[in-house]
Amino acid sequence: MDTGKTIIIGSDHAAFGLKEKIKDLLFNLGYRVEDAGTDSDASVNYADYGKKVAGAVSKGEFPKGILLCGTGLGMSMVANRFSGVRAALCSDVFSVQMSRQHNDSNVLVLGGRVVGDILAFELVKAWLKTEFEGGRHLDRIQSIDA
Ligand code: RB5
Repeated sequence: MDTGKTIIIGSDHAAFGLKEKIKDLLFNLGYRVEDAGTDSDASVNYADYGKKVAGAVSKGEFPKGILLCGTGLGMSMVANRFSGVRAALCSDVFSVQMSRQHNDSNVLVLGGRVVGDILAFELVKAWLKTEFEGGRHLDRIQSIDA
């Protein structure tokens, strides 16, 4: 499968509804979506889904992933343990843009109990259209994994 324009997405129960809405947004923007779960609002462990998404990005199976839980905190803690994963927990557009321009974030993390749907959509759109600046920032992100 050509995963170049495929986003892998996962959430726990606390952000299941927002995950489904973000999937619709991604489809409408022309992305293919790999849904790593969860599949309902029944209580689950966020780490199981964070590991699936971050593991796939770490292995290069997908260039980018989106993770959601209630606060985004648990998912970001899980995701940033994976080599090569630069997960950015954001709730404002400026941070989203900086996470791409300066940090080349490859996983966006959102808190479904923190941001409303409309803000979440704006955050996802800003994240997808903002490019990494490279240059001095490349050395810096490379040193994270060195
Ligand atoms: C679930 O209640 C909640 O703990 C989880 O969604 C997340 O916020 C953890 O960081």
